[in-house]
Amino acid sequence: MERKLKIGLFGFGCVGQGLHDIFTKTDSINAEIVKICVKDKAKKRSLPMDYFTFEKEDLLNDPEVNTIVEVIDTADEAFEIVKTAMEGGKSVVTANKKMVAENFKELVDLQLKHNVSLLYEASSCASIPVIRNLEEYYDNDMLTAFEGIFNGSSNYILSKMVNEGKGYDEVLKQAQEIGYAESDPTLDVGGHDAKYKLCILTAHAFGVYVDPEEIFTYGIQTINDHDLKFAMEKRLKIKLFASSQIINGKLATWVMPQFCDDRFKLYNVENEYNGVVLEGAFSDAQQLIGKGAGSHATGSAVASDISALAYNYRYEYKKLQRPNRPERTNDFIIEVYIRYENKEDISDLKFESVDQVYESSTFKYLVGKIKLSSLVNQTILSNPNCFIAQTEVPARVLN
Ligand code: HSE
Repeated sequence: MERKLKIGLFGFGCVGQGLHDIFTKTDSINAEIVKICVKDKAKKRSLPMDYFTFEKEDLLNDPEVNTIVEVIDTADEAFEIVKTAMEGGKSVVTANKKMVAENFKELVDLQLKHNVSLLYEASSCASIPVIRNLEEYYDNDMLTAFEGIFNGSSNYILSKMVNEGKGYDEVLKQAQEIGYAESDPTLDVGGHDAKYKLCILTAHAFGVYVDPEEIFTYGIQTINDHDLKFAMEKRLKIKLFASSQIINGKLATWVMPQFCDDRFKLYNVENEYNGVVLEGAFSDAQQLIGKGAGSHATGSAVASDISALAYNYRYEYKKLQRPNRPERTNDFIIEVYIRYENKEDISDLKFESVDQVYESSTFKYLVGKIKLSSLVNQTILSNPNCFIAQTEVPARVLN
């Protein structure tokens, strides 16, 4: 049965304002934003000040407020708000991927203990309804893999560099100004934002909680013109991929740039768009593409969760309750391109094979096969003069 939601909203930045705008243009959501809690007392607001409070208790302790919507960008503060709300019997909608990924198990337990619902569709790939699909459509299908472009800012930067020849710093700044990037954009370009989304989706797809710190994560911060030229000469694009695949019966999860040719399903996913390719044992490959960042795109997923809450929707986490969930592994071979400056940069790496080496005074790279486990914790990962991207992935079934 549908119930009227009285919402306490935390945060009125890019996503909060997008959500409010959607509310003013949609009459089909049986919900009302009662009050908005913000931090910055000096900031000029687009709504009358009596909508706002600076005290979180004004929302958390208000018996009229039955739903908390949290769209602030600090994970620790968000967790405190979400936890207190659930302990007080309020259901919650959040967009905070770091907070959800880092506290996944506790958040699932809190929902059961206090008989409340926590929905977070906006946390992963913004406007793409991927969590709801994993929960409802793929709950019985034997998924074998999913991968995708999960970070709009990185994809925007890579698209603008490749398609328009723009510089990295210039387009990163643009991504920040439009509101795609996180307050700390190293979360985007370092691959961490994609990693948090990968954790959340892996829990729903395979029933496995993965600690974000355990996921191999390499971003695009050190990409340079040589890497772009290497790609363009071969008519390849570079995309930041997050992958979760069953390889030899075990679960492999990793984030890394990927050279894609036009056989890749996500080859044409550009700018702030995200894409997810899912592979089921019986359904074969399917893809979902949509805006992965931005005020309205993210607000639309929050609005959809609010609408679902009005019908008492909650995640069932069926796969988390299965007895035979896969163990994790980094013990699989990938093919990589590594740009390096000096031989010492790569001297500790144990390659299975080296297929190509090029060395000039300004540009040195090799292409070779290596186990992901051999790359973990290597100093090259933090070397600003090197760049690593996959050229081929194991058991590439998603094309
Ligand atoms: N900073 C994120 C991105 C926002 O660029 O994808 C959406 O999660």
